[in-house]
Amino acid sequence: EDLDLGGYPHYMAKEIQEQPESVARMIRGRLDDRFGVARLDGLNLTPRELRGFSRVKILGCGSAYYVGQIGATMIEELARIPADAEAASEFRYRNPIIEADTLYIAVSQSGETIDTAFAVEEIKRKGGRVVGLVNVVGSTIARACDGGVYLHAGPEIAVASTKALTNMAVGFALIALSLGRVRDLSNADGQRIIDAIRALPGQIKSILDFEPEIAEHAKAVAAANSLFFVGRVRGYPVAREGAQKFKEISYRHAEAYQTSELKHGPLALIDESLPTVAVVPSDELTERNLAAVQQIKARGGSVLAVTHENVDFGELDVPRIVVPKTEPELDPILLTIPLQLLAYHAALTLGYDIDKPRNLAKSVTVE
Ligand code: G6P
Repeated sequence: EDLDLGGYPHYMAKEIQEQPESVARMIRGRLDDRFGVARLDGLNLTPRELRGFSRVKILGCGSAYYVGQIGATMIEELARIPADAEAASEFRYRNPIIEADTLYIAVSQSGETIDTAFAVEEIKRKGGRVVGLVNVVGSTIARACDGGVYLHAGPEIAVASTKALTNMAVGFALIALSLGRVRDLSNADGQRIIDAIRALPGQIKSILDFEPEIAEHAKAVAAANSLFFVGRVRGYPVAREGAQKFKEISYRHAEAYQTSELKHGPLALIDESLPTVAVVPSDELTERNLAAVQQIKARGGSVLAVTHENVDFGELDVPRIVVPKTEPELDPILLTIPLQLLAYHAALTLGYDIDKPRNLAKSVTVE
Protein backbone atom coordinates (compact mmCIF):
# COMPACT_ATOMS: atom_id res chain seq x y z
CA GLU A 1 0.00 0.00 0.00
CA ASP A 2 2.89 2.35 0.83
CA LEU A 3 4.24 1.75 -2.66
CA ASP A 4 0.95 2.92 -4.16
CA LEU A 5 1.28 6.10 -2.15
CA GLY A 6 4.33 6.91 -4.23
CA GLY A 7 6.03 8.75 -1.40
CA TYR A 8 3.00 10.84 -0.44
CA PRO A 9 1.77 10.78 3.17
CA HIS A 10 -1.87 10.30 2.11
CA TYR A 11 -3.83 9.25 -0.94
CA MET A 12 -5.61 12.56 -0.88
CA ALA A 13 -2.29 14.42 -1.21
CA LYS A 14 -1.27 12.13 -4.04
CA GLU A 15 -4.58 12.49 -5.85
CA ILE A 16 -4.50 16.27 -5.54
CA GLN A 17 -1.04 16.34 -7.08
CA GLU A 18 -2.09 14.00 -9.90
CA GLN A 19 -4.62 16.49 -11.24
CA PRO A 20 -2.57 18.14 -14.00
CA GLU A 21 -1.94 14.71 -15.48
CA SER A 22 -5.47 13.40 -14.93
CA VAL A 23 -7.05 16.47 -16.54
CA ALA A 24 -4.69 16.00 -19.48
CA ARG A 25 -6.03 12.43 -19.81
CA MET A 26 -9.62 13.69 -19.63
CA ILE A 27 -9.17 16.02 -22.60
CA ARG A 28 -6.82 13.92 -24.72
CA GLY A 29 -8.31 13.32 -28.18
CA ARG A 30 -11.51 15.14 -27.23
CA LEU A 31 -10.78 18.68 -28.47
CA ASP A 32 -11.47 19.44 -32.12
CA ASP A 33 -9.73 22.69 -33.08
CA ARG A 34 -11.05 22.75 -36.60
CA PHE A 35 -14.67 23.10 -35.55
CA GLY A 36 -14.19 24.51 -32.05
CA VAL A 37 -16.04 21.58 -30.52
CA ALA A 38 -15.56 18.61 -28.23
CA ARG A 39 -15.54 15.10 -29.64
CA LEU A 40 -17.62 12.97 -27.30
CA ASP A 41 -18.54 9.92 -29.35
CA GLY A 42 -19.41 7.94 -26.22
CA LEU A 43 -22.47 10.10 -25.64
CA ASN A 44 -24.13 8.23 -28.52
CA LEU A 45 -26.00 11.36 -29.52
CA THR A 46 -26.15 12.78 -33.03
CA PRO A 47 -25.96 16.56 -33.50
CA ARG A 48 -29.67 16.49 -34.30
CA GLU A 49 -30.43 14.69 -31.04
CA LEU A 50 -28.17 17.06 -29.10
CA ARG A 51 -30.00 19.95 -30.69
CA GLY A 52 -33.37 18.51 -29.71
CA PHE A 53 -32.92 18.78 -25.94
CA SER A 54 -34.54 21.80 -24.40
CA ARG A 55 -33.43 21.17 -20.82
CA VAL A 56 -30.61 19.45 -18.92
CA LYS A 57 -30.98 17.78 -15.54
CA ILE A 58 -27.87 16.66 -13.67
CA LEU A 59 -27.99 14.08 -10.90
CA GLY A 60 -25.33 13.03 -8.42
CA CYS A 61 -24.67 12.72 -4.70
CA GLY A 62 -22.36 14.59 -2.36
CA SER A 63 -19.50 16.24 -4.16
CA ALA A 64 -20.69 14.89 -7.50
CA TYR A 65 -23.91 16.83 -6.97
CA TYR A 66 -22.00 20.05 -6.25
CA VAL A 67 -19.89 19.60 -9.37
CA GLY A 68 -23.17 18.99 -11.16
CA GLN A 69 -24.17 22.50 -10.10
CA ILE A 70 -20.94 23.82 -11.60
CA GLY A 71 -21.83 21.91 -14.75
CA ALA A 72 -25.37 23.27 -14.89
CA THR A 73 -24.07 26.83 -14.86
CA MET A 74 -21.55 26.03 -17.61
CA ILE A 75 -24.29 24.50 -19.76
CA GLU A 76 -26.58 27.47 -19.26
CA GLU A 77 -23.78 29.88 -20.10
CA LEU A 78 -22.31 28.12 -23.12
CA ALA A 79 -25.38 26.45 -24.59
CA ARG A 80 -28.14 28.69 -23.20
CA ILE A 81 -30.28 25.68 -22.28
CA PRO A 82 -32.00 25.66 -18.88
CA ALA A 83 -29.96 23.31 -16.71
CA ASP A 84 -29.99 22.37 -13.08
CA ALA A 85 -28.52 19.83 -10.72
CA GLU A 86 -30.33 17.88 -8.04
CA ALA A 87 -29.21 15.43 -5.39
CA ALA A 88 -29.95 12.00 -6.88
CA SER A 89 -30.84 10.85 -3.37
CA GLU A 90 -33.81 13.24 -3.40
CA PHE A 91 -34.78 12.87 -7.02
CA ARG A 92 -35.30 9.12 -6.81
CA TYR A 93 -37.85 9.45 -4.02
CA ARG A 94 -40.02 12.26 -5.31
CA ASN A 95 -41.75 10.78 -8.34
CA PRO A 96 -39.87 13.09 -10.72
CA ILE A 97 -41.41 14.26 -13.97
CA ILE A 98 -39.35 12.75 -16.77
CA GLU A 99 -39.44 14.70 -20.03
CA ALA A 100 -38.52 13.35 -23.45
CA ASP A 101 -36.71 16.54 -24.43
CA THR A 102 -34.56 16.66 -21.29
CA LEU A 103 -31.01 15.34 -21.33
CA TYR A 104 -30.33 13.65 -17.98
CA ILE A 105 -26.71 13.42 -16.87
CA ALA A 106 -25.73 11.07 -14.02
CA VAL A 107 -22.44 12.00 -12.33
CA SER A 108 -20.49 9.54 -10.23
CA GLN A 109 -16.86 8.74 -9.50
CA SER A 110 -17.48 5.14 -8.47
CA GLY A 111 -20.43 4.47 -10.73
CA GLU A 112 -21.86 2.46 -7.83
CA THR A 113 -23.64 5.02 -5.65
CA ILE A 114 -27.02 3.43 -5.09
CA ASP A 115 -29.00 6.67 -5.00
CA THR A 116 -27.59 7.75 -8.35
CA ALA A 117 -28.03 4.27 -9.86
CA PHE A 118 -31.71 4.25 -8.78
CA ALA A 119 -32.22 7.72 -10.21
CA VAL A 120 -30.89 6.41 -13.54
CA GLU A 121 -33.29 3.45 -13.38
CA GLU A 122 -36.20 5.75 -12.66
CA ILE A 123 -35.35 7.95 -15.65
CA LYS A 124 -35.06 4.94 -17.92
CA ARG A 125 -38.28 3.39 -16.67
CA LYS A 126 -40.09 6.57 -17.64
CA GLY A 127 -38.46 6.71 -21.06
CA GLY A 128 -35.89 9.46 -20.44
CA ARG A 129 -32.48 9.72 -22.09
CA VAL A 130 -29.61 9.53 -19.59
CA VAL A 131 -25.88 9.76 -20.11
CA GLY A 132 -23.15 9.21 -17.53
CA LEU A 133 -20.14 11.18 -16.39
CA VAL A 134 -18.43 8.34 -14.57
CA ASN A 135 -14.90 7.40 -13.58
CA VAL A 136 -15.01 3.63 -13.10
CA VAL A 137 -15.23 1.86 -16.45
CA GLY A 138 -17.92 -0.81 -16.65
CA SER A 139 -19.49 0.23 -13.31
CA THR A 140 -23.20 -0.16 -12.63
CA ILE A 141 -24.11 3.43 -13.57
CA ALA A 142 -21.84 3.44 -16.63
CA ARG A 143 -23.54 0.28 -17.90
CA ALA A 144 -27.04 1.50 -17.15
CA CYS A 145 -26.68 4.78 -19.04
CA ASP A 146 -27.46 5.24 -22.74
CA GLY A 147 -23.97 6.64 -23.30
CA GLY A 148 -21.47 8.76 -21.51
CA VAL A 149 -18.09 10.32 -20.98
CA TYR A 150 -15.50 8.50 -18.90
CA LEU A 151 -13.40 10.62 -16.57
CA HIS A 152 -10.07 8.78 -16.94
CA ALA A 153 -9.03 10.07 -13.52
CA GLY A 154 -7.49 6.73 -12.59
CA PRO A 155 -8.22 4.97 -9.28
CA GLU A 156 -9.24 7.29 -6.48
CA ILE A 157 -8.66 5.89 -2.99
CA ALA A 158 -9.15 8.80 -0.58
CA VAL A 159 -12.76 9.13 0.57
CA ALA A 160 -12.64 12.87 -0.09
CA SER A 161 -12.79 13.08 -3.86
CA THR A 162 -10.45 15.48 -5.65
CA LYS A 163 -9.11 14.47 -9.05
CA ALA A 164 -12.36 12.76 -10.09
CA LEU A 165 -14.31 15.92 -9.27
CA THR A 166 -11.97 18.09 -11.28
CA ASN A 167 -12.39 15.78 -14.25
CA MET A 168 -16.16 15.90 -13.80
CA ALA A 169 -16.02 19.70 -14.01
CA VAL A 170 -13.86 19.48 -17.14
CA GLY A 171 -16.29 16.89 -18.51
CA PHE A 172 -19.13 19.35 -18.07
CA ALA A 173 -17.13 21.96 -19.99
CA LEU A 174 -16.83 19.46 -22.84
CA ILE A 175 -20.52 18.59 -22.74
CA ALA A 176 -21.46 22.29 -22.56
CA LEU A 177 -19.30 22.89 -25.60
CA SER A 178 -21.02 20.08 -27.51
CA LEU A 179 -24.47 21.36 -26.59
CA GLY A 180 -23.43 24.94 -27.37
CA ARG A 181 -21.93 24.23 -30.77
CA VAL A 182 -25.12 22.66 -32.11
CA ARG A 183 -26.86 25.88 -31.07
CA ASP A 184 -25.69 29.49 -31.02
CA LEU A 185 -22.12 29.15 -29.79
CA SER A 186 -19.84 30.26 -32.62
CA ASN A 187 -16.79 28.41 -33.86
CA ALA A 188 -14.64 31.26 -32.49
CA ASP A 189 -16.27 31.04 -29.06
CA GLY A 190 -15.88 27.28 -29.13
CA GLN A 191 -12.22 27.76 -29.91
CA ARG A 192 -11.88 30.24 -27.05
CA ILE A 193 -13.17 27.57 -24.65
CA ILE A 194 -11.01 24.84 -26.20
CA ASP A 195 -7.86 26.94 -25.81
CA ALA A 196 -8.78 27.59 -22.19
CA ILE A 197 -9.48 23.90 -21.52
CA ARG A 198 -6.12 23.00 -22.99
CA ALA A 199 -4.35 25.40 -20.62
CA LEU A 200 -5.99 23.92 -17.49
CA PRO A 201 -3.36 21.27 -16.60
CA GLY A 202 -0.56 23.85 -16.53
CA GLN A 203 -2.71 26.28 -14.54
CA ILE A 204 -3.61 23.58 -12.01
CA LYS A 205 0.08 22.84 -11.61
CA SER A 206 0.74 26.48 -10.82
CA ILE A 207 -1.94 26.43 -8.08
CA LEU A 208 -0.39 23.33 -6.54
CA ASP A 209 2.94 25.16 -6.38
CA PHE A 210 1.33 27.44 -3.80
CA GLU A 211 0.64 24.57 -1.41
CA PRO A 212 2.96 25.90 1.37
CA GLU A 213 1.08 29.23 1.47
CA ILE A 214 -2.30 27.49 1.39
CA ALA A 215 -1.14 25.27 4.28
CA GLU A 216 -0.48 28.41 6.33
CA HIS A 217 -3.99 29.72 5.60
CA ALA A 218 -5.36 26.30 6.59
CA LYS A 219 -3.71 26.51 10.00
CA ALA A 220 -5.43 29.82 10.60
CA VAL A 221 -8.91 28.64 9.59
CA ALA A 222 -8.56 25.27 11.35
CA ALA A 223 -8.44 27.16 14.64
CA ALA A 224 -12.12 28.11 14.30
CA ASN A 225 -14.91 25.74 15.30
CA SER A 226 -17.19 26.93 12.58
CA LEU A 227 -16.77 28.70 9.26
CA PHE A 228 -18.67 29.98 6.28
CA PHE A 229 -17.85 29.42 2.64
CA VAL A 230 -19.52 31.93 0.35
CA GLY A 231 -19.74 32.43 -3.38
CA ARG A 232 -22.34 33.52 -5.88
CA VAL A 233 -23.54 32.14 -9.22
CA ARG A 234 -20.44 30.39 -10.63
CA GLY A 235 -18.76 30.64 -7.24
CA TYR A 236 -21.59 29.19 -5.15
CA PRO A 237 -21.09 25.51 -6.01
CA VAL A 238 -17.38 26.10 -5.50
CA ALA A 239 -18.18 27.30 -1.98
CA ARG A 240 -20.49 24.31 -1.40
CA GLU A 241 -17.83 21.85 -2.45
CA GLY A 242 -15.21 23.71 -0.41
CA ALA A 243 -17.39 23.49 2.69
CA GLN A 244 -18.20 19.84 2.06
CA LYS A 245 -14.56 18.87 1.77
CA PHE A 246 -13.68 20.88 4.85
CA LYS A 247 -16.34 19.30 7.04
CA GLU A 248 -15.70 15.78 5.73
CA ILE A 249 -12.09 15.62 6.84
CA SER A 250 -11.54 18.36 9.41
CA TYR A 251 -14.82 17.70 11.31
CA ARG A 252 -15.32 21.45 11.58
CA HIS A 253 -18.73 22.95 10.99
CA ALA A 254 -18.46 24.51 7.54
CA GLU A 255 -21.50 25.96 5.89
CA ALA A 256 -21.88 27.32 2.39
CA TYR A 257 -24.07 30.26 1.50
CA GLN A 258 -24.67 32.31 -1.56
CA THR A 259 -22.80 35.55 -0.95
CA SER A 260 -25.95 37.35 -2.03
CA GLU A 261 -27.96 35.68 0.76
CA LEU A 262 -25.65 36.72 3.60
CA LYS A 263 -27.66 39.84 4.31
CA HIS A 264 -30.87 37.82 4.39
CA GLY A 265 -29.90 35.90 7.52
CA PRO A 266 -26.46 34.40 8.03
CA LEU A 267 -24.80 37.77 8.57
CA ALA A 268 -26.32 37.65 12.06
CA LEU A 269 -23.82 34.94 12.98
CA ILE A 270 -20.72 36.81 11.87
CA ASP A 271 -18.27 37.83 14.59
CA GLU A 272 -14.56 37.38 15.40
CA SER A 273 -15.04 33.66 16.02
CA LEU A 274 -16.55 32.81 12.63
CA PRO A 275 -14.19 33.18 9.66
CA THR A 276 -15.44 33.20 6.08
CA VAL A 277 -13.79 31.75 3.01
CA ALA A 278 -15.05 33.93 0.16
CA VAL A 279 -14.88 33.01 -3.51
CA VAL A 280 -14.25 36.32 -5.27
CA PRO A 281 -13.47 35.77 -8.94
CA SER A 282 -12.68 38.55 -11.35
CA ASP A 283 -15.94 38.72 -13.26
CA GLU A 284 -19.07 40.80 -13.62
CA LEU A 285 -19.95 40.24 -9.95
CA THR A 286 -16.63 41.21 -8.39
CA GLU A 287 -17.83 44.55 -7.01
CA ARG A 288 -20.84 42.96 -5.37
CA ASN A 289 -18.67 40.26 -3.84
CA LEU A 290 -16.26 42.86 -2.50
CA ALA A 291 -19.17 44.74 -0.93
CA ALA A 292 -20.16 41.54 0.90
CA VAL A 293 -16.57 41.01 2.08
CA GLN A 294 -16.64 44.55 3.39
CA GLN A 295 -19.88 43.84 5.30
CA ILE A 296 -18.33 40.76 6.91
CA LYS A 297 -15.22 42.68 7.90
CA ALA A 298 -17.33 45.53 9.31
CA ARG A 299 -18.93 42.99 11.68
CA GLY A 300 -15.60 41.76 12.96
CA GLY A 301 -15.43 38.62 10.81
CA SER A 302 -12.20 37.58 9.17
CA VAL A 303 -12.16 36.66 5.50
CA LEU A 304 -9.89 34.47 3.41
CA ALA A 305 -10.46 35.16 -0.28
CA VAL A 306 -10.02 32.75 -3.15
CA THR A 307 -9.61 35.17 -5.97
CA HIS A 308 -7.81 36.37 -9.10
CA GLU A 309 -4.74 38.55 -9.40
CA ASN A 310 -6.50 41.64 -10.71
CA VAL A 311 -9.23 41.84 -8.05
CA ASP A 312 -8.59 45.03 -6.11
CA PHE A 313 -9.42 44.65 -2.42
CA GLY A 314 -8.46 48.28 -1.78
CA GLU A 315 -8.31 49.04 1.92
CA LEU A 316 -9.71 45.67 2.94
CA ASP A 317 -7.28 43.64 4.99
CA VAL A 318 -7.94 40.23 3.46
CA PRO A 319 -5.49 37.36 3.03
CA ARG A 320 -5.77 35.89 -0.45
CA ILE A 321 -5.26 32.70 -2.35
CA VAL A 322 -4.80 33.78 -5.95
CA VAL A 323 -5.66 31.36 -8.74
CA PRO A 324 -4.88 31.85 -12.43
CA LYS A 325 -7.63 33.29 -14.59
CA THR A 326 -9.24 31.18 -17.27
CA GLU A 327 -12.33 31.97 -19.34
CA PRO A 328 -15.10 33.07 -16.94
CA GLU A 329 -17.22 30.00 -17.68
CA LEU A 330 -14.36 27.74 -16.59
CA ASP A 331 -13.27 29.68 -13.50
CA PRO A 332 -14.98 27.27 -11.07
CA ILE A 333 -12.67 24.46 -12.18
CA LEU A 334 -9.60 26.31 -10.94
CA LEU A 335 -11.23 28.03 -7.95
CA THR A 336 -12.03 24.62 -6.48
CA ILE A 337 -8.43 23.39 -6.40
CA PRO A 338 -7.08 25.50 -3.51
CA LEU A 339 -10.09 24.54 -1.40
CA GLN A 340 -8.99 20.90 -1.64
CA LEU A 341 -5.60 21.88 -0.24
CA LEU A 342 -7.24 24.06 2.41
CA ALA A 343 -9.30 21.11 3.68
CA TYR A 344 -6.36 18.73 3.46
CA HIS A 345 -4.04 20.95 5.47
CA ALA A 346 -6.70 21.83 8.02
CA ALA A 347 -7.23 18.12 8.68
CA LEU A 348 -3.47 17.58 8.79
CA THR A 349 -3.08 20.38 11.33
CA LEU A 350 -5.86 18.90 13.44
CA GLY A 351 -4.38 15.40 13.19
CA TYR A 352 -7.35 13.55 11.71
CA ASP A 353 -7.46 10.45 9.51
CA ILE A 354 -7.42 12.17 6.16
CA ASP A 355 -8.01 9.28 3.80
CA LYS A 356 -10.69 7.56 5.89
CA PRO A 357 -12.82 10.10 7.71
CA ARG A 358 -15.15 8.77 10.38
CA ASN A 359 -18.72 7.78 9.42
CA LEU A 360 -18.12 8.08 5.67
CA ALA A 361 -17.65 5.55 2.89
CA LYS A 362 -15.98 6.15 -0.45
CA SER A 363 -19.12 5.05 -2.13
CA VAL A 364 -22.50 4.35 -0.60
CA THR A 365 -23.71 1.21 -2.35
CA VAL A 366 -26.39 0.01 0.06
CA GLU A 367 -29.62 1.55 1.27
C1 G6P B 1 -20.13 9.33 -0.90
C2 G6P B 1 -18.76 9.95 -0.68
C3 G6P B 1 -18.69 11.33 -1.33
C4 G6P B 1 -19.06 11.23 -2.78
C5 G6P B 1 -20.45 10.59 -2.97
C6 G6P B 1 -20.76 10.28 -4.42
O1 G6P B 1 -21.08 9.97 -0.13
O2 G6P B 1 -18.47 10.07 0.71
O3 G6P B 1 -17.39 11.86 -1.21
O4 G6P B 1 -19.03 12.50 -3.38
O5 G6P B 1 -20.52 9.36 -2.28
O6 G6P B 1 -19.90 9.28 -4.87
P1 G6P B 1 -19.79 8.91 -6.39
O7 G6P B 1 -18.89 7.70 -6.45
O8 G6P B 1 -21.16 8.61 -6.89
O9 G6P B 1 -19.19 10.08 -7.10
